[in-house]
Amino acid sequence: MPSENSAQIPQHIAIIMDGNGRWAKQRGLPRLEGHRRGVETVRTVVDAARELGIRYITLYAFSVENWKRPTEEVSGLMGLLDYFLKRELNNLIKNKVRLLTIGRTDQLPANVQRELNRVKEATKEFTEWTLVLALNYGARTEVADAAKAYAAAVQAGTEKLDDASWENFARYLYTADIPEPDLLVRTSGEQRMSNFLLMQCAYSEMVFTPVLWPDFGKDDLQAAIDEYNKRERRYGLTTEQLKSVSK
Ligand code: FPP
Repeated sequence: MPSENSAQIPQHIAIIMDGNGRWAKQRGLPRLEGHRRGVETVRTVVDAARELGIRYITLYAFSVENWKRPTEEVSGLMGLLDYFLKRELNNLIKNKVRLLTIGRTDQLPANVQRELNRVKEATKEFTEWTLVLALNYGARTEVADAAKAYAAAVQAGTEKLDDASWENFARYLYTADIPEPDLLVRTSGEQRMSNFLLMQCAYSEMVFTPVLWPDFGKDDLQAAIDEYNKRERRYGLTTEQLKSVSK
């Protein structure tokens, strides 16, 4: 179930970090320079989220479709990921932030997988704050993987086909142990989901901001939360029903 909105601070924010390329283009710089700046924003936003009391933050860092980008950009992004993981390890440990990933990470370059495993291992005991990186992630791929795993469990006799409720099926998603996002933010003015957390965002509020990801800061995060607080999350109920439930 989505989490309660009582504290007015979302428990989980998911972000589609968009606009790195345009940020670079506006300055006559190579696209990779935009991604480089985007990495700095990741640090700023992860720190800001923790300071604001947001327990989970999920960042869409590399999609299954991103492999189709120019080879130079793909290898540049993998290099940045490796650099980020090496650089952030101490910061994550200092701030007690656990790193999780969602996506087919077994298809990432070996050096990136190694760094991911190292950081995940070093932060696995932390429970208060969680950073989730979506890497080689696609929502449709996730559903296909979950369906396969569920079918295998039925074949093995550990699940029954008749028990295939949403709740049971969701235990096979990459996000099985992660609460659903309360708020989804997309930067750069685009207003679409781009195959990100399609199942998990069924009841999430969505905020689209024109700010390009390299320019996104703590104030922009706060503005998205302010917008979230103006919304009424009804989960299919009427306003009147909601009022009586919250009494
Ligand atoms: C979208 O901007 C951004 C990406 C596809 C990659 C996001 C990656 C980073 C912020 C850096 C690496 C991440 C981590 C966690 C180290 P775009 O390139 O689609 O921008 P555009 O739409 O303006 O071209």
